[in-house]
Amino acid sequence: MLPNYSARLARLQKALSAEGYAGAVVTSSANLQYLTGFREGVWERFAGLFLSAGGVATLVVPELSRRRAEHDEKMVDVVSYRDEQGPGTCVVRSLRGFGRKGVLGVEWSFMFRDWELIQSVGEYSFRNVSSMLDGMRAVKGDEEVALIKRACVATDRGLEDLQGLMREGMTEVAIAREIKDRIMEHGGESIPFCLVQSGPNAAVPHNEPGRRKVVRGDIVVVDVGCTVDGYNSDITRVYVLGRLSVEQERVLEAVLDAQRQAISVVKQGEEARVVDKAARTVIKKAGYDRNFIHRTGHGLGLEVHEEPYIHGSNAELLREGMVFTVEPGVYLEGKFGVRIEDDARVTSGGCEVLSGSSKVFS
Ligand code: CO
Ligand code: CO
Repeated sequence: MLPNYSARLARLQKALSAEGYAGAVVTSSANLQYLTGFREGVWERFAGLFLSAGGVATLVVPELSRRRAEHDEKMVDVVSYRDEQGPGTCVVRSLRGFGRKGVLGVEWSFMFRDWELIQSVGEYSFRNVSSMLDGMRAVKGDEEVALIKRACVATDRGLEDLQGLMREGMTEVAIAREIKDRIMEHGGESIPFCLVQSGPNAAVPHNEPGRRKVVRGDIVVVDVGCTVDGYNSDITRVYVLGRLSVEQERVLEAVLDAQRQAISVVKQGEEARVVDKAARTVIKKAGYDRNFIHRTGHGLGLEVHEEPYIHGSNAELLREGMVFTVEPGVYLEGKFGVRIEDDARVTSGGCEVLSGSSKVFS
């Protein structure tokens, strides 16, 4: 089932015209896919959607991407340029319906390069409209949730396979290669990130896999996700090699309990920060609040990190259809770290956890 791109474009157009914009120029990969279905990384060549407040939508792409930008439903006009020509003429044509001056909505990631290109056409001023798009994307439709779920299933199956494959003496890099292969076999289409952190390396949340060999007594943290049709999963599991020390056990129990408590308070109408508080309270009680050094979660969709952000000062109300991670962690420098992460969809009375593999493999 194709997403309803025309409805998304119409919603954005309505918001732009209500706030007096001449139109918007959308250039980020995630928003281009969301609004038009055009799915390609934005590289050194210009690509952008020009949506006028009057509702005219033109997608400018390099010639080599034209076939991918066009699909059956013609809700946007696709124009393309060749490398020797450059995007200038297409941009001029696309801005025709905007008038020669006015306010253009752009995203926070809008590039100076693109500003130069557009500024040469008319006297425009620019304003950030990322929040309009972020707000639209935060609440997922059923077809989007279905894709995230498929990404979760592939990741879960890969993580389960890894249990039988992980042995003492393997390097983190070798483990990362195994898990990526398995996830792809189970239906993942790309693996945007894959963290394998063993022993003391897990005390630094974003450590990339290295050449350290796993040994008995290690906790190995694996944080990995994949995409299906551009939609992401993001799951973290813990593998225990041998027996846990008393301290490792205490931290693991605290993190597991914190995650359970946080998930239990998720429901439509609850404040995002309440979820963070629920996790933090458990970890504080266990004496590790100073070692829980990041927010409890982040929204998940076309990007691995998007709205809503689950942290202590976000009073935003959760809405049915939002999808985000719940991932408390405790990091003890020089010793070890533990993080457990699942992906949840907000429902009217609670939440549906989309990921489902066992949280600890031993
Ligand atoms: Co993660
Ligand atoms: Co995450």
